[in-house]
Amino acid sequence: MCGIVGILGQAPAATRIIEALRRLEYRGYDSAGIATLGADGIERRRAAGKIANLAGILASEPLPGNTGIGHTRWATHGKPTTDNAHPHATEKVAIVHNGIIENYRELRARLIARGRNFASDTDSEVIAHLITAHMEDGAAPIAAAEAAIAGLEGAFAIACIFAGSDDLMFGARRGSPLVVGVGQSEMFLGSDAIALFPFTDRVIYLEEGDSVALGRDKVVIKDKAGREAARATVTVQGAAAAEKGNYRHFMLKEIHEQPETIGRTVAALLDTVNEKVRAPEFPDVHLDRIGQLALVACGTAHYACRIAEYWLEQIARIPVECDIASEFRYRSPVPGTDSAALFVSQSGETADTLAALRFVRESGIKAISVLNVPQSSMWRETDAILPTHAGPEIGVASTKAFTAQLTALAAFTVALGRAHGTVSPETERALCHALIALPRAVAEALREERHIADLAAELSRAKSALFLGRGAYYPLALEGALKLKEITYIHAEGCAAGELKHGPIALVDEKIPVIVLAPKDHLFEKTMSNVEEVAARGGRIILISDEAGHAASAGLTARRITIPTCHPLIGPIVAAIPVQLIAYYTAVHLGTDVDQPRNLAKSVTVE
Ligand code: F6R
Repeated sequence: MCGIVGILGQAPAATRIIEALRRLEYRGYDSAGIATLGADGIERRRAAGKIANLAGILASEPLPGNTGIGHTRWATHGKPTTDNAHPHATEKVAIVHNGIIENYRELRARLIARGRNFASDTDSEVIAHLITAHMEDGAAPIAAAEAAIAGLEGAFAIACIFAGSDDLMFGARRGSPLVVGVGQSEMFLGSDAIALFPFTDRVIYLEEGDSVALGRDKVVIKDKAGREAARATVTVQGAAAAEKGNYRHFMLKEIHEQPETIGRTVAALLDTVNEKVRAPEFPDVHLDRIGQLALVACGTAHYACRIAEYWLEQIARIPVECDIASEFRYRSPVPGTDSAALFVSQSGETADTLAALRFVRESGIKAISVLNVPQSSMWRETDAILPTHAGPEIGVASTKAFTAQLTALAAFTVALGRAHGTVSPETERALCHALIALPRAVAEALREERHIADLAAELSRAKSALFLGRGAYYPLALEGALKLKEITYIHAEGCAAGELKHGPIALVDEKIPVIVLAPKDHLFEKTMSNVEEVAARGGRIILISDEAGHAASAGLTARRITIPTCHPLIGPIVAAIPVQLIAYYTAVHLGTDVDQPRNLAKSVTVE
């Protein structure tokens, strides 16, 4: 949700900021802008739309200076116009902001009364004017910035540069992430470490409430109480994962990475030689004392929870309630004394999930979090971490993070079942054996890619599509519909196969593709009865199943997509591959912006 970057460098800043912004574009792409310090003070270039538009403007109107800040926006307050694009600036300061300033109306009124003129409809612009007001009142730049942020309510990460101070940059985080990059007599700020990979892999993760004053050879961090604080400089890995390589889109690359990313997750969570789960090292959470679990997440991560709900109840025999994070807090959940909560998030920054996590911890309930981004806000605030090992996910539509989340949740289910005595040593071996076979099964499922690419031509003509499944394939049907609609803009619905006859079947005609997820398992025959109901109404059925399922449904289906025969535990993870490929190739066929679909952003840091 908005990406910010700042450079105090030894080389012209603007082109480097563009490079960093391209890596942050997944956070938002409604508008973009850069401000640098030239001989005449602050200079800016801004453009509505993607970074390419801004790069075009810079090509004809370059910006001078080695010091600058940049921003890529996901609009919250104010339309995505050039005037609303960041940086916002006065004659003294330029700022970029990620987050929402909740008291901006009151601040704006006060600053206008003081004679300050506003040029945008954004909440962010008040920050620039507030700092300027403090400077006019005699404060030095850093003191002015510190005083300004003390008056802000809401969530933010900001970066500021000051006219006439070429060796100075200010940053602060409250509720939104910010990292400092440490170079050779250069300093950087970024919304995440990926943005800074072209310049440095040495970063300092600022903590909640921190502010920082940077010079090219100087870092002064203050904690939320205003005391100087020491924060570790760490070296981060994963630069290669942030490159598209030879793939046309990040999403396709990330789909193809899944045998490897799942393999890494399995290797981290299982003793693959002895076919046992490694007991997660949770110093503060005792698995055998968890009597019930709340699973909380948003979007695709929520669907991972919905699939895990089946596993946790069937295998570990733990009662589970599953909720979307934006609803969880507001329905006043009633936890038991033996309740724990499990949060799932790729980014670890999703505002709704983070707020739910804080709510749970304030209620005295232990929080376990399945996270992909180390050092993210949730990583720092949770009681226990179950890491996924998907590596940076750049495509806005989640793919490899989803399957890594499922893999981690499956391993967690086995660990919980073992702790509760519902999973015997033999069952544990069988389940681990299945998980160890998962990367190979996923690689096999990827072999249907060409076939799915052909099928996509047909799907791209549809106005609407239905996904059906039973059991753990029902939430996968929901995920299939989400994936299709978010990147193709085709309306799609996921539906429990048995629920179809209670309403959604009214949608069925000969034009609607009905994608059915049904391997030949104990629910197969029931699902096929529902498929018969669709076929009787002329629906066009695309069946995702194994060889046995296709053989048993001969004559009913218009198209077949084959997945390997596999253990029921891993089946939904394997079937996620064709679901992702269907969405991807349909989007390619339609020519939509696959990696950056309209109106979306990768990391949703507003509620
Ligand atoms: C959809 C998608 C989103 C995210 C959701 C949660 O493809 O990616 O629905 O799953 O915004 O994000 P995280 O996992 O970062 O909390």
